[in-house]
Amino acid sequence: MKILVTGKGGREHALITALSESPQTHELYSYPGSDAIASLATRVDVAGLPELIQWMKDNAIDLCVAGEEAWLVKDRGLANLCAEAGIPCWGPYKESAQLEASKIFAKRFLQRHGIPTADFTIATTAAEAKAALNRFPIVLKFDGLAAGKGVAVCPDRAEAEAFIDDVLEKRIFGAGDLLIEQCLSGPEISIFVSVCDDQYQILMPARDYKRIGDNDQGPNTGGMGAVASRQLATPELMQQIENEMVKVTVQGLQKDGLKYRGFLYFGIMLTPTGPQMLEYNCRFGDPEAEAVMPMVRGDFANYVFEAAKGSLNPELIQFAEGWSICLISASAGYPASSRNGDVISGLETVQGARVYHCGTRQNTEGQFETNGGRVLAVVAQGNTREEARDKAYAESKKVTFDGLQRRNDIATMHFE
Ligand code: AMP
Ligand code: GLY
Repeated sequence: MKILVTGKGGREHALITALSESPQTHELYSYPGSDAIASLATRVDVAGLPELIQWMKDNAIDLCVAGEEAWLVKDRGLANLCAEAGIPCWGPYKESAQLEASKIFAKRFLQRHGIPTADFTIATTAAEAKAALNRFPIVLKFDGLAAGKGVAVCPDRAEAEAFIDDVLEKRIFGAGDLLIEQCLSGPEISIFVSVCDDQYQILMPARDYKRIGDNDQGPNTGGMGAVASRQLATPELMQQIENEMVKVTVQGLQKDGLKYRGFLYFGIMLTPTGPQMLEYNCRFGDPEAEAVMPMVRGDFANYVFEAAKGSLNPELIQFAEGWSICLISASAGYPASSRNGDVISGLETVQGARVYHCGTRQNTEGQFETNGGRVLAVVAQGNTREEARDKAYAESKKVTFDGLQRRNDIATMHFE
């Protein structure tokens, strides 16, 4: 089978690795991919989405897997265009991907289907937004894709007003409204579900660490590490999440006529009054994919292929017991900026752990160097959380570059 994965980061490196480890050998392609991904999947070099669709048709691609979200909502939508071209696509239609692309669309969906979520109001102008600041802390969310940086949890009025000015006056993320949301508290959990029309399968839960600094200090990032294990949630909690969130969401998609085949990511906060939905993402998480994918057993490629064609077969994959822990090494300046061109050393010394490349490139001497905010994910497994964590830290520390930032409390914080 010929499979093309869209995206270029650590998540795609992990997805492509899992596809490459499926029992049969497949021809793998990536768009746009990266220098590291190129060792597993041939990079396709085309100008944009319409050209990609044409390339997939010309090259008889059997399956397109959406890694990152952006293409799902670009132009007329990756999945929509694949459908027209007769190419099975694992990733939802543009209309359904609004669940991620528009936080306001998602909030209205949650409200309409009675799914627990924080109270909210919507502001179009800075004046409206400032007038709606009635309690602190308060959560402000830009209504669009902002590479994980469109959300601010503001402890006081000054910070909230500064964010409002950035978003609604300076328009740092472009056009879009602002969602003003009640601040909830509690540990978070990411639940990944394969959705195939009216069928679904809940995959392994994970937790990511979004703040740049230890003890959840500093600004939000795309994610500085992740923990995956079935033991993250009790069977009772998983049942509650399935009943109150997953089932109702899949039924809601059907009722609203929103076609969905792909991974759906439920970002949930476990508050003292029960689980509350924070967000949907129409794809796997990053860095959660890097933690979860090494736990997948069975025939992942065939599982995705069959599901993209409309037949979900949960028995085609299984998940390993134990724990998987992913540590991100980020470049200097991240998340406000990132520094490229710092040479990475020690990659070849890592043993018994996986290294996925999030933002690297190869220089003319063939060395990998930094090329983005999140640079590398080092992932290890163990029977216990402690074993997996110790292994992940020991191996991650072997890989260095100037300005490297890594959290020291991944898989410790929120557990002790
Ligand atoms: P989102 O992109 O909506 O998931 O928001 C990113 C992060 O901001 C979440 O993972 C939480 O850590 C935090 N967050 C979002 N909404 C809330 C909320 N209502 N209360 C507290 N924290 C929140
Ligand atoms: N880890 C958060 C995300 O993928 O959005």
